[in-house]
Amino acid sequence: MALDAKIMAAAYRRQQQDRESRRRDLERREQEVYSRVPRVAQIDRELRGTAAKIVLAAFETDGDPEAALLQMRNVNLALQRERAELLVGHGWPLDYLDGAPQCPQCQDSGYLRDGTPCRCLNAYYTQEQNRRLSKLLDLGGQSFETFSFEWYSPNGWPEYGRSPLDNMRMVRAICEEYAQTFGPYSGNLLFTGAPGLGKTFLSACIARRVSERGFSVVYDTANHVFQQFESSKFGHENPYEEDPDREINRYLNCDLLIMDDLGTELMSNFIQSVFYRIINDRLLSRRETVLSTNLTVDGLGDRYGEAVRSRIRGEYQVLVFFGDDIRVLKRDRS
Ligand SMILES: Nc1ncnc2c1ncn2[C@@H]1O[C@H](COP(=O)(O)OP(=O)(O)OP(=O)(O)O)[C@@H](O)[C@H]1O
Ligand SMILES: [Mg+2]
Ligand SMILES: [Zn+2]
Repeated sequence: MALDAKIMAAAYRRQQQDRESRRRDLERREQEVYSRVPRVAQIDRELRGTAAKIVLAAFETDGDPEAALLQMRNVNLALQRERAELLVGHGWPLDYLDGAPQCPQCQDSGYLRDGTPCRCLNAYYTQEQNRRLSKLLDLGGQSFETFSFEWYSPNGWPEYGRSPLDNMRMVRAICEEYAQTFGPYSGNLLFTGAPGLGKTFLSACIARRVSERGFSVVYDTANHVFQQFESSKFGHENPYEEDPDREINRYLNCDLLIMDDLGTELMSNFIQSVFYRIINDRLLSRRETVLSTNLTVDGLGDRYGEAVRSRIRGEYQVLVFFGDDIRVLKRDRS
């Protein structure tokens, strides 16, 4: 999986901050207990010392190291028992001073012995990525679970041979299956249709599900994508204060790129070649792309050229959205 280094770094930072704050909490609890019941502090010191004492004892008792060890162990157990009784006796839970790591796999270091990220760090990665996706998409409100069919008419549309409702049942099912089984051979999707029919909504559903399954997902509008390429090439003022080359890297290398509102940008030869490069590079490296546009496949072909038309025809599953504009329906209803 092609995880994003910057997001991973942020995830790691956050994980280590959490670990540090757990450590500080533990210290605070220790101070609280030690100051109220100094005997516990004494016991803790003794317990820490016993490991060394055990080793010493084994050498010093010339006759019988095993007996010495056994005795140390008994002292240890007695100290632990006394400590537990003191804690509980003063109203603290038994594990009040437990500093056990939250993740037994990596001891909260975030990485396994072979250097791969631990599952707990990957969970931070997903959180971090969703935080970023949420700046552009309504990941909170838009999910397969909240997707509603009530906006799609059950009356047939003759030019499509079915109703918007039947069509969206199929489209939603395909999208959910796509997200659920996402991987390097999932293929690509093209959402095409008039405004206000749920294309961005379904993009959010897919982004969320695929992200939660541990893949790197980038969502952006076509306009913003092209702007980054222009900034990088022409050194334009970048109104977003991002590093355009880094953004371009994310577009080209993420597991799933969702490019929204394609066809609204001001056209130029440069944009044509950038779009071809995105489509072609991602196909060659078997990285998946979801496009959405108000244009038809032929409209896209006219705009971005034959090479793009042929790749979309051959490599994209085209999902057609039709029906009544949900933005208008919602406005009229309220
Ligand atoms: N299935 C749905 N259930 C509930 N609300 C929906 C659904 N689909 C879309 N909406 C709402 O309708 C509005 C328009 O949807 P969306 O933005 O996805 O349209 P779109 O197809 O992307 O339009 P455009 O082509 O203009 O970008 C949004 O407010 C969205 O939350
Ligand atoms: Mg949209
Ligand atoms: Zn771990």
